[in-house]
Amino acid sequence: MARILLTGGAGYIGSHTYTALVAAGHRAVILDDFSNADPGVIDRLDRIAGVRPDVVEGSVLDRAILDRTFADHAIDAVIHFAARKAVGESTAIPLDYFQTNVTGLIELAQAAKAAGVWRIVFSSTATVYGAPDRFPIPETAPLSYTNPYAFTKLTCERILQQAADADPFVVGILRYFNPVGAHPSGLIGEDPKGVPDNLMPFMAKVAMGELPELSVFGDDYDTPDGTCLRDYIHVMDLARAHVLSVEALLGGRPHVLNIGTGVPTSVLAMHAAYGAAVGRELPYRIAPRRPGDVPRLDADPSRAAEVLGFRAELDLDAMCRDSWRWVRAQAAGWRLNDPG
Ligand code: UD1
Repeated sequence: MARILLTGGAGYIGSHTYTALVAAGHRAVILDDFSNADPGVIDRLDRIAGVRPDVVEGSVLDRAILDRTFADHAIDAVIHFAARKAVGESTAIPLDYFQTNVTGLIELAQAAKAAGVWRIVFSSTATVYGAPDRFPIPETAPLSYTNPYAFTKLTCERILQQAADADPFVVGILRYFNPVGAHPSGLIGEDPKGVPDNLMPFMAKVAMGELPELSVFGDDYDTPDGTCLRDYIHVMDLARAHVLSVEALLGGRPHVLNIGTGVPTSVLAMHAAYGAAVGRELPYRIAPRRPGDVPRLDADPSRAAEVLGFRAELDLDAMCRDSWRWVRAQAAGWRLNDPG
């Protein structure tokens, strides 16, 4: 049993990871400022996991809170989720992204160092591969960035690697492909504010009748059906990858790994699968390409299999089914004591 600090642990990936950690016999403390998470998530985590997380409300930018958190809890390792993640927004307010994502990481690493906590799992992204030309993408592919969000993730990877050259940090960098889906209980999931940017949350709103139709951004790419290919991974698989990653760090094994399924899926294939989960075809139209989109982004997942023994298990149908269950439950006003 290890005790893990989850920064951003009330957010989408952090909350699912909490449930996976507890299921694997670990305990976790959540540090979250609830800027992009609902405090009601904590009750739901208690209900799913059967263990209520210790919660510290605060920001990774607040060194005093970080120091107190390390002092109050015997932390063995950190999984650092807390960050801003909207690509479009990052181009409008880059300095805010540098502060939260880069300064936040530095503050966290400084506090961890002061507390002698050397194991850190970092949430990175496939976006660090820029516009790759070799598929599936291995971890050795060239890295680049085309927007401030991607810049922050690549910068944080390098900060952690260079810090580990000087101090005894043991770092796990997980490059997520496209996380989707929700916990099978329907109690937690992704809950973006406003009109979603990402494909699956957008389709969920179309399915709920809150948005009229899906715009498929471009059908003239050089792909089998002309729409972009992505490597969608169920958030429960991704959560399990974090457990294996932190356990590897506790065993002294640093790593840089793609976390994906290795299965490329087109926008139209995803649209069809979501419609199948909902039980009817969802309205869509072909729209112009979205600036910044790359035609294809899918993982070579073999290194994660070798290093962690991690293989994604949940398929596209499970991703869509679990997303749809969560979205309906939310819309029905699912309450903790009244799940009907
Ligand atoms: C985006 C981010 C990535 C982030 C990921 C989180 C960009 C450039 N990248 O990836 O950094 O880690 O979200 O999951 O924003 N699509 C439509 N219609 C829509 C929405 C999306 O056709 O209304 C298409 C997109 O063109 C793309 C695919 O669906 O081909 C997936 O889009 P999205 O879910 O936004 O993810 P990414 O852009 O791959």
